[in-house]
Amino acid sequence: MKTIVISGGTDGMGRALARHYQDRGDTVVVLGRDPDKGADFPGFIRTDLSSVANTRKVVADITEAFPVVDALVLCARHFRSARRQTAEGFESTFALEYLSRFLLGHGLACSLNRAGKPVIVNVSGPGVPKPEIHWDDTGLERGYDGVTAQMQAGRANDLLGVDFAARFDSISYVLVNPGAVATSFSGEYDAATLAHVERLKKFGKPVAEGIAPIIALVDEPPGVPLSAFVEGRRIVPDLDRVAAARLADLTHDLLRSHA
Ligand SMILES: NC(=O)c1ccc[n+]([C@@H]2O[C@H](COP(=O)([O-])OP(=O)(O)OC[C@H]3O[C@@H](n4cnc5c(N)ncnc54)[C@H](OP(=O)(O)O)[C@@H]3O)[C@@H](O)[C@H]2O)c1
Repeated sequence: MKTIVISGGTDGMGRALARHYQDRGDTVVVLGRDPDKGADFPGFIRTDLSSVANTRKVVADITEAFPVVDALVLCARHFRSARRQTAEGFESTFALEYLSRFLLGHGLACSLNRAGKPVIVNVSGPGVPKPEIHWDDTGLERGYDGVTAQMQAGRANDLLGVDFAARFDSISYVLVNPGAVATSFSGEYDAATLAHVERLKKFGKPVAEGIAPIIALVDEPPGVPLSAFVEGRRIVPDLDRVAAARLADLTHDLLRSHA
């Protein structure tokens, strides 16, 4: 029996994964905001992961309750057509989709290291050609749009994988791009983006199909520090170690101000 932590486990692929492992008899910790959606899961923790303080609290609570964590699956996302700044001063997409994943991975590394074959599956967007990090404006105060924020978060997660793997080589870090999957597409959309999302919901593959490669990776982690997959197909991860180290330094600086 494994202990599996799933951020964004109340909807979409995270929810389907949580059900799968719960039905199998594993201990599943589900992180999300909506208590109605979380009611199906005894291991539900209600939290807004766009808050650094909340994410740190969740890490502390999980660490106390579960000395061993076998798998961390990172699925929380929320698209915003309009820019929103959190009470802590971060742009919301960057905070939720990148900073929370950074904090959960690093914060649970000790518990993961006690497992036999620990794995972190970061469900994001590897394989997308080089979106940029806005180094001097990660909060996109100059020129925000929702797609730019998503692309930046995706790139930041690729670089997070590269840096994490260099620091914790005993944990398999796996970057997964599931392709278009018909999920809830959590977000607040303008009309044009909503029309696109409706098409994705209609034509995306079923959730069961989207999670099949993720289940395979959690059950049998690749056993190398970093790997990347697009729709179940292994790709060569983009190993920009210089950018990865730069982002890690920047992230530590940003988080230090919220220690
Ligand atoms: N679906 C696709 O086509 C696709 C394609 C490429 C990559 N991906 C990636 O796959 C992952 C899963 O996507 P999905 O489409 O399955 O997700 P989804 O259906 O949109 O669900 C998003 C999840 O994130 C949670 N969430 C949103 N804001 C949160 C917050 N502030 N704090 C905590 N939890 C929050 C939601 O929970 P509550 O509602 O309870 O808050 C929900 O459980 C994401 O990282 C996404 O970027 C998806």
